[in-house]
Amino acid sequence: MQPKIQTKIRKAIFPVAGMGTRLLPQTKVVPKEMLPILDKPIIQYAVEEAIEAGIEEFIFVSSKGKNAIEDHFDAHPELVSMLQNRSKVKELKILEDISFTPGQVAVVRQPYPLGLGHAVWCARHLIDDDYFAVLLPDDVIMNKISCLAQMSSAFAEKQGAYAAIMEVAPSQIHLYGAIATDLSQDKKSLPIANIVEKPKKEEAPSNLAVIGRYILPKSIFGILEQTPKGAGGEIQLTDALKALIGRVPFYGHVFEGARFDCGTKLGLVEANIAFGLQQDDIKDDLKKILKQYGAF
Ligand code: UTP
Repeated sequence: MQPKIQTKIRKAIFPVAGMGTRLLPQTKVVPKEMLPILDKPIIQYAVEEAIEAGIEEFIFVSSKGKNAIEDHFDAHPELVSMLQNRSKVKELKILEDISFTPGQVAVVRQPYPLGLGHAVWCARHLIDDDYFAVLLPDDVIMNKISCLAQMSSAFAEKQGAYAAIMEVAPSQIHLYGAIATDLSQDKKSLPIANIVEKPKKEEAPSNLAVIGRYILPKSIFGILEQTPKGAGGEIQLTDALKALIGRVPFYGHVFEGARFDCGTKLGLVEANIAFGLQQDDIKDDLKKILKQYGAF
């Protein structure tokens, strides 16, 4: 009998154990993933994206002082009964949208911030499917069809590893991992020939930057185990991704949507404006405010 080919991504890992030092002092006590874009914390955007992509199990790789993240997705019976008593139907629906069945959300700890690669590896015992997703919540992506849903559809057609990629200005490529690929191909999923981490403008193989959405094979855990500490003394996911090239089909997926780096001040402000301008109840007033500040 032929082994069954996986066509659906069911599990997602959300690494949330980082220190968020770029947003200090705000992140001293409040996890960066709990900072708001309008009325929702950053992490909820990533979780909603995963739900839209059909993810069934949600794994947070968390750390000391970050319990607010798991609490946010846990039941809150007192609040629910208070809202019920007051017939607050709209508010009850808001809570219902982030309620999960028991066991659907799991939390593993990364005891020390040894890097993103190490954080992903910490969830190894919870992954049994051949392929799973990784979402970095501080990359917030706005689009009608979510970024991970776009990648999951590509995976359903063509199995393999995927990394979300987007074109960035040459002056910005040194902040990302840049992929080498056959740029003459007019496709959404481009086979990755190499990834160069934080290249100088002149040395970048392309302006296509890897951002925080991945579909990865289970074999990445074995690779991570062998991955030595890289930049900053951390176990880098990018180093493991490089080792993946040639072992499984590996595509950079050009996604549709706007991406905001909410691990930075500017990205966080931009995301709040962009999402605010999409909301019917505040967009007109927000435009007035922006005008008042000379924005347009
Ligand atoms: P970042 O480098 O953007 O997050 O990692 P950081 O380390 O929290 O931020 P700064 O640079 O100090 O401001 C990308 C993602 O990987 C997670 C982070 O939580 C973030 O979601 N991460 C990073 C871990 O889970 N563990 C780590 O050891 C490092």
